[in-house]
Amino acid sequence: APYWVIVPAAGAGKRMGTAQPKQYLPLADKPLIAHTLQNILGWPNVTGIIVAIAADDRQFQSLAEAADPRVHTVTGGSERADSVLAALDFLSAQQPPETTVLVHDAARPLVEHGDIVRLLEAASMALLAQPASDTVKQAEPVAGGQSLVRQTLPRSEIWLAQTPQKAPLGRLRDCLARGLKENPAAITDEASALELAGHHPQLVPACRSNFKVTHPADLILAEALLRHRNS
Ligand code: CTP
Ligand code: MG
Repeated sequence: APYWVIVPAAGAGKRMGTAQPKQYLPLADKPLIAHTLQNILGWPNVTGIIVAIAADDRQFQSLAEAADPRVHTVTGGSERADSVLAALDFLSAQQPPETTVLVHDAARPLVEHGDIVRLLEAASMALLAQPASDTVKQAEPVAGGQSLVRQTLPRSEIWLAQTPQKAPLGRLRDCLARGLKENPAAITDEASALELAGHHPQLVPACRSNFKVTHPADLILAEALLRHRNS
């Protein structure tokens, strides 16, 4: 079945610490986001892609992938959820509410094709995620900005949410808009908005390569994996 992909790409990349937002940093032969878009354009039956870019973005239109007729842009917002909502508003004006939407971070260039196929086959609300490999501690902040362990969470029940995250267009837009109004701090991904409305999206295990390029070391790892994949 056909579906649309929303790509939030309007962030500043503060944790990367570079002047240039991380989605435009060079990764092997081209900007990071160009790898992500090339990857998405190869997903089975993708109808269209809506990229949320910053209001002052001067780089997106010069990417080779931006010329693909399936690629559209909207202006993003101050938080990731605002950027996603802007794209959902744009899509809602031209597609019916039952349209399937996948939201995928520009900063995850290395998602595996097989994981996409399994996500598309999963429940109507589903997300790629990584079972925790480290033991997970919940912290208790104490004076002086330090943290003490409050408790250890049961690791077998802990998954780290990634993207793509999949949901029907109308439902995702309603839940995200409502969540942003009622509890914006709690809306850190699409699933969290669906959960606030009582839904239980399916967790689909993803390959290790689907990490989000966030810190400088992630860029080095992404480049090494790309070279390995293309060798
Ligand atoms: N994003 C967005 N709009 C925002 C903030 C983030 O579209 N207002 C996008 C980013 O461009 C990225 C994805 O959401 O592709 C995941 O966010 P994150 O990794 O946090 O990126 P940044 O917000 O850019 O990085 P940082 O939090 O370190 O500043
Ligand atoms: Mg951020």
